[in-house]
Amino acid sequence: MKKRLLSFFIIGVVCLSLVTLSQSESEDEDDAVVTTEEDDVVVDDIIYRSPTPSGNVYFAEHFDDINQFNKKWTLSEAKKDDTDDDIAKYDGKWEVEAPQKNGLAGDLGLVLKSKAKHAAISARLDRPFKFTVKPLIVQYEVTLQEGQECGGAYLKLLTHGKHTADLRQFHDKTPYTIMFGPDKCGNDHKLHFIFRHKNPLNGTFSEKHCKKPKERLEEPFKDKLPHLYTLHVRPDNTFTVKLDHKVINEGNLLDDFTPPVNPPPEIDDPNDKKPADWDEREKIPDPEARKPDNWDEDAPAMIPDPTATKPESWLEDEPEMIPDPNAEKPDDWDADMDGDWEAPLIPNPACESAPGCGPWKPSLINNPDHKGKWRAPLIDNPNYKGKWKPQRIANPDFFEDKEPFRMADIAAVGLELWSMSNMILFDNFIITDDPAVSDTWAAETFDLKRRKLDKDGESLFSRLVTYTNEQPWLWAVYVIVIGLPIVLVLVFCCGSSSQDKEEQRRAAEAKKTDAVSPDDIVDQAPVKATKSKSQLEVQEEEEEEEEEEEAEASGGEVDTDALKTEEAVSEISEDAPRSPKKLASSKE
Ligand SMILES: *[C@@H]1O[C@H](CO)[C@@H](O)[C@H](O)[C@H]1NC(C)=O
Repeated sequence: MKKRLLSFFIIGVVCLSLVTLSQSESEDEDDAVVTTEEDDVVVDDIIYRSPTPSGNVYFAEHFDDINQFNKKWTLSEAKKDDTDDDIAKYDGKWEVEAPQKNGLAGDLGLVLKSKAKHAAISARLDRPFKFTVKPLIVQYEVTLQEGQECGGAYLKLLTHGKHTADLRQFHDKTPYTIMFGPDKCGNDHKLHFIFRHKNPLNGTFSEKHCKKPKERLEEPFKDKLPHLYTLHVRPDNTFTVKLDHKVINEGNLLDDFTPPVNPPPEIDDPNDKKPADWDEREKIPDPEARKPDNWDEDAPAMIPDPTATKPESWLEDEPEMIPDPNAEKPDDWDADMDGDWEAPLIPNPACESAPGCGPWKPSLINNPDHKGKWRAPLIDNPNYKGKWKPQRIANPDFFEDKEPFRMADIAAVGLELWSMSNMILFDNFIITDDPAVSDTWAAETFDLKRRKLDKDGESLFSRLVTYTNEQPWLWAVYVIVIGLPIVLVLVFCCGSSSQDKEEQRRAAEAKKTDAVSPDDIVDQAPVKATKSKSQLEVQEEEEEEEEEEEAEASGGEVDTDALKTEEAVSEISEDAPRSPKKLASSKE
């Protein structure tokens, strides 16, 4: 009776949930339709015009005007240092063209066309950027149209000076002030921010590498979509790195770079050497200890068991193997060529019923007298002086630069790259000292581009997800509607009392015998429930087995690998669950 009530209850809940679901879905649809209409209007309105930046701009390039591009940009005619002659030239191909997919009408970009070649191109800023009281803002777009196997898509802000007087000489050693942008090889995904710092004592420059962003950066390397990279560096030495407008790294030039801008004030004295008599041994063998007279270092570890006796029926005279009496010499056996024929050996049948044949040996046991090599016990070393450390001295190279923001003036922007994947599209470079300028520039370029792509690519489902993300309370509705019935079914089926179990046993019994029992009619609902539960279990077990088989089939190690990948994925995106099976295969 109790059970029937419960099942009614569950059916009620399910019905209720379905009603809620359909209602909420129709709500969603209504709203989605409204959104679609709004967006459609916007889509019709996505009209791209090559932007003209306003405000304080040092460099802006949208690549839509080929004549302008040809005037502004210089191909490198240099040779790369320290490379074999055949690949030493910067002979990679660049082309100004439209994106392969879903571009905005009239929008062109600079595309690196060749793979596995060195390619270098650069353009002078309208006027040099000087690091004074305004921030530096660098922003540009990269679309890895063919994904990326191994290669960079970073830019270099070239240092003003004699090395950048002629940009046809731009090569890998041309001094830069900042290097910024994505770079990947294998599983190493990077977003570089490197600046070159001038040592105020002797004027030499050294590279300072920014700490890694907190998040993993895999998506931009594989989704083949346009991505916007933004770097802000401010006069107070703070910096911010953004990907698609989202802050992914921030910090301070003084604290977050390696090696640090400022060397340590004290260092170990390089001339201080450990004295020869410095005793660093904390414990020593006791010099007073003597080996006891009865200590036999030669006593073997194992000895024959003295209590073992030969079993009476042991056949000492029977060999364990005998020549096969049934074997016959082959007709074509040539004694001259093959030697004397001998029958192959077989186990001696006489030994089968005996405990053993052949010479009997007692089994070996651990030798109670075995002591091994004698060693003196350890005692505290009376001469122990502690671990030796060199003296600390003032660092002769010490300096303190409190304004690493004041970097060398920037004369030009350059791309000096090598890539295993071609068709890398660059677009919409801007260098300014005003965040509003770069934001507007992005709104007129990148943001339009992404909006169009989102429109083109969105399925109904992903629209629903997007919509739900905008209305997070809907997730709660989904959880209740889908989750509650499951929880109830589980509670109902698995948490059954002992009385239920007894009834289940009888039900199972009844199924086994196939005989009609009163239960068949009275307890229909519970039997059904039991059945559905066991089906569920069977299914689960089958799935587990499948996974195990797959793991075994691919050589055992996959187990942990799949796990690792699973972890990795849950790190990457918690809201995109994927089955470990699919992962294992996609990994291969
Ligand atoms: C300048 O100083 C740095 C740091 O002390 C040192 O590593 C470098 O070799 C020096 N360069 C010259 C040219 O003296």
